[in-house]
Amino acid sequence: MTAEPRYLNLNVYLRNSGYHEAAWRVSAADPASVLDPRHYIDLARTAERGILDSIFLPDSPGVAEFRSEFLPGAALDPLQLLSSVATATEQVGLIATASTTYSFPWDVARRLATLDFLSHGRAGWNIVTTVEPAAAGNFGDQPHPPAADRYDRAGEYVEVVLKLWDAWEDGAAVMSRPTGQWADPARLHPPRHHGRYFDVASYLPLPRSPQGHPFLTQAGSSGPGIALAARYADAVFTPLADISAGIAFRQNLRSQAAGFGRDPEHVRVLPGLSFLIAGTDAEAAALKDELEGAASGEFRWRNLANLAGLDYTAIDPDAPFPPGLLASAPKTSFGASIYTMAGQDPAATFRAIAQKLSALPGGLDFTGPPEKLAQLIADWHEAGASDGFTLMPNVLPGQLTAFVDHVVPILQKRDIARTEYAGTTLRDHVGLPRPPGQGVG
Ligand SMILES: Cc1cc2nc3c(=O)[nH]c(=O)nc-3n(C[C@H](O)[C@H](O)[C@H](O)COP(=O)(O)O)c2cc1C
Repeated sequence: MTAEPRYLNLNVYLRNSGYHEAAWRVSAADPASVLDPRHYIDLARTAERGILDSIFLPDSPGVAEFRSEFLPGAALDPLQLLSSVATATEQVGLIATASTTYSFPWDVARRLATLDFLSHGRAGWNIVTTVEPAAAGNFGDQPHPPAADRYDRAGEYVEVVLKLWDAWEDGAAVMSRPTGQWADPARLHPPRHHGRYFDVASYLPLPRSPQGHPFLTQAGSSGPGIALAARYADAVFTPLADISAGIAFRQNLRSQAAGFGRDPEHVRVLPGLSFLIAGTDAEAAALKDELEGAASGEFRWRNLANLAGLDYTAIDPDAPFPPGLLASAPKTSFGASIYTMAGQDPAATFRAIAQKLSALPGGLDFTGPPEKLAQLIADWHEAGASDGFTLMPNVLPGQLTAFVDHVVPILQKRDIARTEYAGTTLRDHVGLPRPPGQGVG
């Protein structure tokens, strides 16, 4: 492992044709390419050419049905897709989202450890509790649990996954042909876990994976979300609107991590940053106009309702934002940003508010030339407002290629982006040590 704290940590969020909802209508790529693994392999190779730390696939085990009319239905299973990307790439980190609400720890721990073996130490897990309530109907007859319960289960879930990943001591697989002993039973630690949510008896049928265990990321920014991240995450994806919000978030997260006995350097803050770049401000603005022109107003207001935790069928889009619904809506940090926006203009219709919301709620969205995007990134870095970014190219593959060709060289010239990978694992790229596991010292 080589510590490189002065370098930015750059992770790329890859969602089908791009982060913008209308990306598939303007992208140079065939809309059907989002169902072809080569699309993702090419994107991963581009990220690798830019010496970026990782690619990251979002996921939800259920979607609100209204979305299918407007957005590519192309949510290939992240772990399976990244297994295919792993064999076609050499260095870039591969982060898969998996839900702690709609899965079980033993199975997910095994599949993530498998990806770490398949990729020779490049696997990561984006821990989410799933925001989309429609997922509940796919997993039985229980309603979507409230956020507090989802985070409670997530805490125990991650604890169990870590027990599973560390159940084999390093070196427990002695593989001795003379003695006939494959593994030393004294160095195996079955979890025997009996908790509120899970009962898990025994270890995985696999030794510790190349990174010790896969890299952990977390993407919730509410109180319980930050607490979960402070306890376990190696990196956090979060919407942060400006440098002062970044500094406050990072300080809070780092001090909570220290409270859990962790080195605050070992949790990296990577705010979401969606972007559209072109040669000049005017060209970038024209691209933005093209994208916004292709976006559906109908989709946008329904999506706003969904993001805010409201049922769109109960809303008149041409009436003012319904304050009465706010009190009863489930509390998430996405919802909070939407309500703040609505509060700034109480007379505006629901449709008009939705029209303003094309990016990550409460997050950074940039439109302009590469030099200005590089400057924004450098300003955050120098102010200590983040450790890097989760790049969310608004259109794929074009905007990722543009970032790698035109922004990365500027960051490299400023000596805040690396010019070659320092190691082979995702933890090496981020500059984090291999976790020690059991039986050490
Ligand atoms: C950059 C970013 C990526 C996210 N990706 C996912 C995802 O793939 N799946 C998911 O269910 N939630 C995803 N989320 C949502 C968070 O996991 C979380 O549910 C949401 O922020 C609301 O929780 P909170 O109130 O703790 O912030 C993402 C959030 C951010 C900021």
